[in-house]
Parts: sequence; C-alpha cells; structure tokens
Amino acid sequence: MKHYSVMLNEVIEALNIKSDGIYVDATLGYAGMSKEILKRLDKGLLIAIDEDLDAIKYSENVLQNIGGNYKIINDNFVNLKEILNKLNITKVDGIIFDLGFSSPQIDEDQRGFSFMSDAVLDMRMNLNNKVSAKDIVNTYSDEKLWDIFFKYGEEKLSKVISKEIVNARKIKEIETTLELVEIIKKAVGANYFYKQHPERKIFQALRIEVNKELEVLEKVLPIAIDSLNKNGRIAVITFHSLEDKIVKKKFKDNSEIDEMVKGLPNIPKEYLPKIKLINKKPILPSTKELEENSRSHSAKLRIIERI
Ligand SMILES: C[S@@+](CC[C@H](N)C(=O)[O-])C[C@H]1O[C@@H](n2cnc3c(N)ncnc32)[C@H](O)[C@@H]1O
Repeated sequence: MKHYSVMLNEVIEALNIKSDGIYVDATLGYAGMSKEILKRLDKGLLIAIDEDLDAIKYSENVLQNIGGNYKIINDNFVNLKEILNKLNITKVDGIIFDLGFSSPQIDEDQRGFSFMSDAVLDMRMNLNNKVSAKDIVNTYSDEKLWDIFFKYGEEKLSKVISKEIVNARKIKEIETTLELVEIIKKAVGANYFYKQHPERKIFQALRIEVNKELEVLEKVLPIAIDSLNKNGRIAVITFHSLEDKIVKKKFKDNSEIDEMVKGLPNIPKEYLPKIKLINKKPILPSTKELEENSRSHSAKLRIIERI
C-alpha cells in the first residue's frame, strides 16, 4: 500500500520533536508521518487518529514494528478534546493535520472516490457515517447541488451539471461513479469535458460535502490551539484553497491582539495572542517533490507555535 507523504521532512522539522513530548497525528493515514514521529520518541507518546478503519489497520502494523509508545484512535479529529480527555491528557506538544485523503483511499476501487473506476458512489472516509455521495446526488435540490459544486469544486458549469443530475435521477437513481461521470459529460459536452475535466472538481466537491471536511476543520483548529503546551506547535497541510483560507484566518486571528482591546493600557489575558506564526506565507513543496508526486501540487503547509 503506497502513500507518499507530502512535505514529510518539512512537517517533522516543524514539530521540533522532543523525545519525551506528546504528539498528535490527527490524520494518521498510512503512518508516513506517525512513523517518523514515533522513531524520535523515547519517553514520549504519539496519539494517532484516523476515521478510516482501513488506514488504521494498516498503520497498526507499521507502528508496532517501531515502538510501543503510541495510541491509535479510530475517530474524527473534530473530537480531539474528548479523545485527549479519555486518555487523561490535557496538553500536547505538537499536532499534525495532513488533510484530505490518502492515495490508497483513492486507488481502492470500492470506495467511490475515483472518477476513473466504476464503484458505488460512496466517498465516506468513515463507513459508519450515514450520508454517502449517492444520497447527496439523489436527494439534494438542484440549487444545493449547484452551490456545493460551485463552492467546493469551483466548477464554472456547476449549474448545467446540477440540472442534468436532477433530470437523470427522475428517470433512474444515480448509483455509480461512472454513471455520474457520464451525466457530467452529457451536461457540459465532450469538448469541455475532455479539455477541462469537470468530473475532477465535481468529485472533489462531493467528497468535501460527504465528509463535512470544511466544517470539521473550522471546529478543530481552536480546540487544537487550546490543547497545546507553551512552545507546542501545529502543522497543517491543506490541498484546497478553501481549506487554506480557513487555516490562514484562524491562525491570523489567534496571533493578533483582538481589535476590541487594541490600545488599552492593560489588556486582559484572554485577549492576548495565543500563538505566533512560524511562517507568514505558506510553505510549498520543493521543485523535486513537485516533480516526483503529482498529489503535492496544491499542497500548502502552515505552522504555528503556542506562546
Ligand atoms: C493525506 S492522508 C494522511 C497521510 C499521512 N499523513 C501519511 O503520511 O501517511 C489523510 C488521512 O486523514 C484521514 N482524515 C481526513 N479527515 C479526517 C477527519 N476529519 N478525522 C479523522 N481522520 C481524517 C483520512 O482518512 C486519511 O487517511
């Protein structure tokens, strides 16, 4: 199972790992990053979270060959606070979010993430979740489909595509990935389809909606900041401009004095900045990495430190 960890060295360096520290890998995936953290721990602890059971099963094997000081948790990272509470941990020294999906999730034909192979339209990272991509394309209104395709997929022809979906499902429920690809092709015409590949954007939008990816990111960042020890760090890799926008804003807001109290002689502690930005501009993959891994193309890394 091959997953190439994007900006691995940059993330590990960003964490400033102490051998007795507590670190959270909120997106364990195929353990590419967790493995490197665990190697650097002596008395410390790694808490590795993923909502995908396949990823967890694979990574359990990888990590147990390195050392014993880790806990793997099958949950959504939005529950970070509850996860730490259960382990009787109040503060940690570093947290990684390497967002999105891993290559095996995409390559695994049965999950419905790929627009290139036929499968039931699923796209749930956590198979216990109720709503799948199939539910969305068959039940959302025309306007709601248009909205998510436009917002999360940034697809210009979202309106004609959502209309075509609504027409198609009147005749027959849309069940598979390739049925959806055909509907998209019919909506936009072959010329646009082969030039612009709107199916990529529509599948991305559905994945974001199915897994509520932007909502959970927005919720977890303040929780993550509040879970850090002094000098503890967070490293986030995003793959989508909307994700990066959320991370950038949350980090900026928490690194500046609240506008309401700016200029006061004695600023109450709760209004002081909680973090400092380690990099003002996002770190991008090196030219070498861009050449070697096409998945790294849209990646951006932001790092902060608790003060
Ligand atoms: C890009 S991969 C991580 C790859 C990993 N860093 C590595 O080097 O192998 C993202 C992983 O995060 C998981 N994931 C995404 N969103 C999640 C969430 N909200 N809660 C828990 N896991 C999530 C996915 O299931 C996937 O396995």
